[in-house]
Amino acid sequence: MDNLVSLFLEILEEKRGRPGNDFLTYLIQTPGMTEAEYRDSIVTLFMAGHDTTAGALSSLIFYFASFPSYQTRARDEGLSILGPDSHPNIPDFEKMPFLKACIRESMCINSPSTATISRVSAETLHIGGYALPAGIPIVLNIHAVLHNSQTWKDPDAFNPERFISANSTDDGKWMPCA
Ligand code: HEM
Repeated sequence: MDNLVSLFLEILEEKRGRPGNDFLTYLIQTPGMTEAEYRDSIVTLFMAGHDTTAGALSSLIFYFASFPSYQTRARDEGLSILGPDSHPNIPDFEKMPFLKACIRESMCINSPSTATISRVSAETLHIGGYALPAGIPIVLNIHAVLHNSQTWKDPDAFNPERFISANSTDDGKWMPCA
């Protein structure tokens, strides 16, 4: 980890000498941050933020390639809202329920994170008939929650339609970001 963090700090130094129109430059230009805060932010960005986001996007592109009719439908929806040359923003995204459903379904089937960060309880916990002793690391298996056939119909099928119906993500079972 120390070696990896040293590498991140080298990248930060390099960016100081060669600023650009990118996240690291904005970070460096943020006033009032300590060196430790710069370091921790870059670690968060690379380790928590990069692979998860890249994995989510790669999976979505994979499923669009595998199911061209969904790709066409999402593209047509995007074009109908954005037109050929406008720049998308967050409120536009809310007007694209099918694209949103595809992203949710993709993150459900192939969630970028498969488990939560571990927690340790100070006391013995009793959950679902099991006793989890104090002091042991506990993780929640996100993949299992997202593939539970008791809560999802055909959990392994890519079916964005399941997220078109109202409230399908509001009941706590869609949790790729925990
Ligand atoms: C598709 C994108 C992402 C997914 C699927 C994802 C998933 C997760 C998951 C499953 C956790 C563990 C939550 C828990 O244990 O309760 C987590 C924690 C975290 N994520 Fe993400 N994440 C994503 C994007 C990002 C981005 C872009 C950033 C920052 C730039 C970020 C920063 C963090 C941080 C700082 C934590 C730790 C929070 C804590 O200590 O409580 N994540 N993320």
